[in-house]
Amino acid sequence: MFERNVAILGGCGHVGLPLGMAFADHGQTVVLCDTNAAAVELVNSGSMPFREAGAEELLPRVIASGRLTASLGVGALGSAEVVVVVIGTPVDEYLNPDIGAVLRALDGAADHFVDGQLLVLRSTVYPGVTALVEKRLAGLGKDLDVAFCPERIAEGHALDELSSLPQIVSGRHARAVERAAELFRILTPDIVELLPEEAELAKLFTNTWRYIKFATANQLYMIANDFGLDFDRIRHAVTYRYPRAADMPGPGFAAGPCLFKDTMQIAAFNENRFTLGHASVMINEGLPLYVVSKLERRYDLPSMTVGILGMAFKGGSDDIRSSLSYKLKHLLSIKARAVLCTDPYVTVDPDIRPLESVLASSDLVVVATPHPQYAELAVEVPVVDLFNVLGRGVLI
Ligand SMILES: NC(=O)c1ccc[n+]([C@@H]2O[C@H](COP(=O)([O-])OP(=O)(O)OC[C@H]3O[C@@H](n4cnc5c(N)ncnc54)[C@H](O)[C@@H]3O)[C@@H](O)[C@H]2O)c1
Repeated sequence: MFERNVAILGGCGHVGLPLGMAFADHGQTVVLCDTNAAAVELVNSGSMPFREAGAEELLPRVIASGRLTASLGVGALGSAEVVVVVIGTPVDEYLNPDIGAVLRALDGAADHFVDGQLLVLRSTVYPGVTALVEKRLAGLGKDLDVAFCPERIAEGHALDELSSLPQIVSGRHARAVERAAELFRILTPDIVELLPEEAELAKLFTNTWRYIKFATANQLYMIANDFGLDFDRIRHAVTYRYPRAADMPGPGFAAGPCLFKDTMQIAAFNENRFTLGHASVMINEGLPLYVVSKLERRYDLPSMTVGILGMAFKGGSDDIRSSLSYKLKHLLSIKARAVLCTDPYVTVDPDIRPLESVLASSDLVVVATPHPQYAELAVEVPVVDLFNVLGRGVLI
């Protein structure tokens, strides 16, 4: 196989690092350029900065092979044939997409771009940003082929999904599309070609579709629960050997660094006209408030210590970015006597306690993240468990 030099800008993050490992594992030479000195050092020592299935085994192997290195700053970009950009793209305090970090990173790296390189934008962006990047590079006097190839992995499963999912590639010029397709054919033969604006929307729709489905389930859950009925039993009846409803999700906190902000990206791009998206935000972000108001009516919260099981935004993860467990914690800390938090994977929160100590001190427990190890728990006090990890039903 033809060997390329690939540089990944933002390469020690949740998207960049697995992608770099996957390319290196498939025979490419990869340098991860990042501004996070601690992450660069960890990666070069063969240690993962976050949880990712299969990565603990793969990372030391590709580092030892010499095919993957991490580098502080952007100096190493110049020797690459392909530069992949995966800087974070959050929404700002007004809930508008903030692509400033991507543009600033491009400006900061401008001196190291070399005419003829392929630049692959892989951050999630709203329609028109690839065109903006093309103009920015031209304005900097650089002649690069630009492609937009969105990342669609589920965090934590990237190493599997980078090869098992089709890859969307897009560009305005045939040469950029062909070069990008050739790059991703290293990972999978399954390539879907689009125009950049189509690909930008395709990525946003992928996440928004999922977010709306979670919101639908959460709203139906609240309706059933208000009638004193167990949504999980109803959902089983709806989905059991009934393919047209088979993908109905269960209730639970739907959050994390992507679904909410990508829904808001569509709203902002579409002049704030995204009724279904906004409704989904209200439902999903409102679920912790619903839970707390139900608990308030049923229990004497001011006299109780509440334990929250799971602070990561989803089961099996150590990522707390935009986790609704923290919204729940905030609400409960106003209403309850005390709130105690635990999580088997999260390492960045000094308030996290061991599971046993939280269970021993709590009068009431909320399972906020469906970590698999909670399934075996014997909990003596009342439990709120929207994900039904403990199998006792989801009624509050
Ligand atoms: N996390 C996911 O599961 C996921 C899935 C699909 C798409 N995405 C998208 O991928 C993009 C990146 O998300 P992420 O979760 O990997 O973010 P992240 O914060 O984990 O990673 C971003 C990395 O970029 C680095 N960085 C920031 N500014 C830099 C600069 N100027 N130069 C070099 N490095 C810089 C950071 O230190 C960090 O390591 C976002 O647009 C996100 O929406 C994320």
